[in-house]
Amino acid sequence: MDDPTTRRRAAPLALSAGDFQRLGHRLVDRVAELLERLPEGRVTPGEGVAEVRAALAAAAPAGLPERGTDPERLLDETVDLLAAHSLWNGHPRFFGFITSSPAPVGMLGDLLAAAVNPNLGGWHLSPIASEIELETVRWIAQLLGFPDDGGGLLVSGGNLANLVAFWVARRARAGWPLRAAGVAAGGRAARVYGSRETHTWIEKAADLSGFGTDAIRWIPTDDGARMDAGALERALDQDAAAGDWPVLVVGTAGTVSTGAIDPLGEIARICRARGVWFHVDGAYGAPAACLPEASADLGALALADSVAVDPHKWLYAPLEAGCVLVRDRGALRATFAYHPPYYPATGEGEDPPVFFHELGPQNSRGFRALKVWLALRQVGRAGYVESIREDIRLARRLFERCAAHPALEAATLGLSIATFRFVPPGLAARRAEPAVASYLDALNRALLERLNASGEAFVSNAVVGGRFLLRACIVNFRTSEADVDALPEIAARHGRALDAELRAPALG
Ligand SMILES: Cc1ncc(COP(=O)(O)O)c(C=O)c1O
Repeated sequence: MDDPTTRRRAAPLALSAGDFQRLGHRLVDRVAELLERLPEGRVTPGEGVAEVRAALAAAAPAGLPERGTDPERLLDETVDLLAAHSLWNGHPRFFGFITSSPAPVGMLGDLLAAAVNPNLGGWHLSPIASEIELETVRWIAQLLGFPDDGGGLLVSGGNLANLVAFWVARRARAGWPLRAAGVAAGGRAARVYGSRETHTWIEKAADLSGFGTDAIRWIPTDDGARMDAGALERALDQDAAAGDWPVLVVGTAGTVSTGAIDPLGEIARICRARGVWFHVDGAYGAPAACLPEASADLGALALADSVAVDPHKWLYAPLEAGCVLVRDRGALRATFAYHPPYYPATGEGEDPPVFFHELGPQNSRGFRALKVWLALRQVGRAGYVESIREDIRLARRLFERCAAHPALEAATLGLSIATFRFVPPGLAARRAEPAVASYLDALNRALLERLNASGEAFVSNAVVGGRFLLRACIVNFRTSEADVDALPEIAARHGRALDAELRAPALG
């Protein structure tokens, strides 16, 4: 029932201002405490799915609740549930995959964004929020050294950012009305090019774009996992001679396995000479282009037609935030814009307001930009240079510590990713023997599970030259020298225990 004095509707979901304040303060206090205690706790409780499901069943009803719960109790219990059964990628010893420690200002930004709840599909629904997203995209371009007068927008992550660029290239490089007539109307076999180290998004993109995964030309790599530019050139020329349609080349700035950077300058030259779209997947590594000491190859991402970069990786934004930058703003709009009668006309003067639904696949869109914008403002370019440089320094330190450890073999170092494996000293000299090589792979596979389940640290894996390796990636402003120095001995301790359990007597 409505309250006649305040003329407010008494809706079941409504909270009074006082209650909202009380619950909000309490929640922020509890989150602050969790963050403060993060380093003392485990990265993960290492539970299996049955234990996690049991914990949820104990905390919440199995079926849809018929009646509500007091929100204070609900929030308290939910903090307890998440605190006890989560993997903390903000933990200083989380070294897995490429997920960063979330910037606290970004956490608060998400709360503010949800409170205002602008819909960034249309400018009229999100006037200041749309302008903030535009500014965020420009700032990201400036950080990377990419032209800041192109098009771009925030999306959910690297997969979507790359996929958007892929679709833009597909339309821009088709010489026929692709949007209406479809891919098959071109009458030529589409070809896309990427190294064997390209992230799996390219398969999804080729598949979902109607090309099929057979359209991907997997270009070989050199010993450093970098695309062989000569092989790319030959593949492009062979396909052109066969009458195929070369749509785009993908160069990677920081491969997911080892942080390798393709020879982007050389690839740019090859693409330009042939009129082929050049896309850079910098989902992980592109932010490192902000360092004055960045390599020329990394800096050459500025020559691309489009770049994908993930604020939720090396810009430390809470999930989710990906970003795609497109040199030709018109090409982005021409890929996605339609003008249904229920949206206002968008053209207005020389500098019309931006309707982001015309620039990407989403219609209704949330205010992802706010958390990224706040973090960029909080620490500026200088803060990012400092943090990214430190992550890279710590990865090098880890690599060196692994190389110096008698039971570890350091394998690769690229950007802020170091790979290594456990090799029992007695087997080191025999590592090339087939039986020993396959035992070392099995041992390190088991070590990955044991180490991660312990919650002492968390790493992921890479397979390089057929060897199964442990992989530590540092995109974490909480990781310190002490954390990095502890990891080799943690890995070796679990490795020794496993070796004692698993090694067959015949191996010696
Ligand atoms: C190079 C690269 N591209 C794309 C992706 C996919 O990004 P997301 O998981 O944000 O979709 C990743 C993820 O690690 C990546 O490393």
